[in-house]
Amino acid sequence: MNPMRTQVGIVGGGPAGMMLAHLLHRAGIESIVVEARSREYVQERVRAGVLEQGTCDLMREAGVGARLAREGITHHGLELRFGGDRHRIDLSGLTGGKTITIYPQREVVKDLIDARIAAGGAIFFEADEVGIRGFDGNAPAIRFRGGGSVQEISCDFIAGCDGFHGVCRPSLPAGALTIFERVYPFAWLGILAEVAPSSDELIYCRHDRGFALHSMRSPTLTRLYLQCGPDDEIGAWPDQRVWAELHTRFAVGDGWKLNEGRIVQKGITPMRSFVAEPMSYGRVFLAGDAAHIVPPTGAKGLNLALADVRVLAAALAKYYADGSRELLDSYSRSCLRRVWKVQRFSWWMTSLLHRFPEDNPFDRRRQVAELDYVTNSWAAAQSLAENYVGLPMD
Ligand code: FAD
Ligand code: DHB
Repeated sequence: MNPMRTQVGIVGGGPAGMMLAHLLHRAGIESIVVEARSREYVQERVRAGVLEQGTCDLMREAGVGARLAREGITHHGLELRFGGDRHRIDLSGLTGGKTITIYPQREVVKDLIDARIAAGGAIFFEADEVGIRGFDGNAPAIRFRGGGSVQEISCDFIAGCDGFHGVCRPSLPAGALTIFERVYPFAWLGILAEVAPSSDELIYCRHDRGFALHSMRSPTLTRLYLQCGPDDEIGAWPDQRVWAELHTRFAVGDGWKLNEGRIVQKGITPMRSFVAEPMSYGRVFLAGDAAHIVPPTGAKGLNLALADVRVLAAALAKYYADGSRELLDSYSRSCLRRVWKVQRFSWWMTSLLHRFPEDNPFDRRRQVAELDYVTNSWAAAQSLAENYVGLPMD
C-alpha cells in the first residue's frame, strides 16, 4: 500500500472535479484527483455544448478562458419552432445584453486538465475499485487500485464529483440523503454530423411526433437531437431513419433546409430529474451530477456542476484561511436554492417541448398555447431568457 496525504481528496475528473481542483490550487489549497477513466476517455466524451454567461465568466476569472475566448461561438438568441413556424427569442435583448457560448464540454475538460498538469497538480487516471471511508469522523480517505497496487489518500475533506453513477453518493449511510426524482417516458437520440450548421442559432423544435434540437460544435460540425422511446436501441435508428425523422420534425414552409452530413457519433441519453439532499454528509461534499441530474432541455447540467464547485471552493478557502466552517455548513443550502430553480426550468422546458405519451388532445392544445404565449409575451419570453442565459451564481 502506498499512503499519500492531501487537504482535499477529489473523486472524479469530469468538469466539476477538475474545476474544483483548479480553483483550490489558485487559493493555495492542495488536492488530489482520482478518476476512474483514462485521460483520453474523459477528454473525448461527447456531452454538453452550451455555456451560460456566468460559466464563461468563471472560466475567464479562473485563468482558463483563453481558448474559450478564441474558439467559443457567442449566441445572442435562439429559435423556438412549432406548428411549422419559426420564432426567435432575443436572449440578449431580453436580459440586458447577456449571451450564451457554444464550447463543447470536452474542451472545458481539456483546458482544465492542461491547467492541472501545468500546475504540477496530482491526478490519477484509470483508478480501479475506488472507495471512500472515514468521512464520519476526522480521518477521511480515498482508497483505489492504480498502477498495480492499492493506494490510499488521507485528506481533510472528500469532494464527490464522480457523476450520477459514481461511488460517493451510494457510500453515504442509508437514510442520510433524501432523494427527489422524476424519470421521463422518453430519451434523446443525439448525433454529431460532419456538416455546417443549418442555422446560426440553436433551434428547439416541438412537433406532434416529438421534440428535436439543432445545435452545433463548430462551423463544420452539427449536433442534433431527437426525442425517442426510453427503451429504444441504437440499432433501431439507422442513419437514414434519423435524417428522415429530423427532416419531418424541423420542416417549415419558408425554404429553410436541414443540411445532412456523415454521422460521426450517435448515442441515446435517458432523461431524468434527480436531487439528493443534503449535498453533504460529515466530511463529504457532493457536487455536480453526483448530487443532481437535470433533463438536458435547457442545457443546464454542466453549468450547474460548475456553479456547485464555485461555492464549494469558496467555502474550503474560508475554512483554510480562518478555520471557520460557516460556509462549509451552508454549502448544501446555498447550492440547493439555485439547483431547485434550475430543476424547475429544465423540467418546464422539457414539458413545453416534448410529446408525453399520456397527453390527450387537450394537453397538446395547451402546450401549443404555452409556446404561443412564450413567443408573443415579452414577460414570458424574458422569463425563459433569464433562466436560459443563467440565473445569478450567488
Ligand atoms: P461527470 O461529467 O459525469 O464527471 C464525473 C467523473 O467521475 C467522470 O469523469 C467519471 O469517469 C468519474 N467517475 C465515475 N465514477 C467514479 C469512481 N467510482 N471513481 C472515480 N471516478 C469516477 N448536459 C447538457 O447540458 N447538455 C447535453 O447535451 C448533455 N448531454 C449529456 C450526455 C450524456 C451521455 C450524459 C451522461 C450527460 C449529459 N449532459 C448534458 C450532462 C452534463 O454532461 C453533466 O451535467 C456534466 O458532465 C456534469 O459534470 P460532473 O463533473 O458533475 O460529472
Ligand atoms: C446542446 C445540448 C442541450 O441539452 C441543449 O439544450 C442545447 C444544446 C448541445 O449539446 O449542443
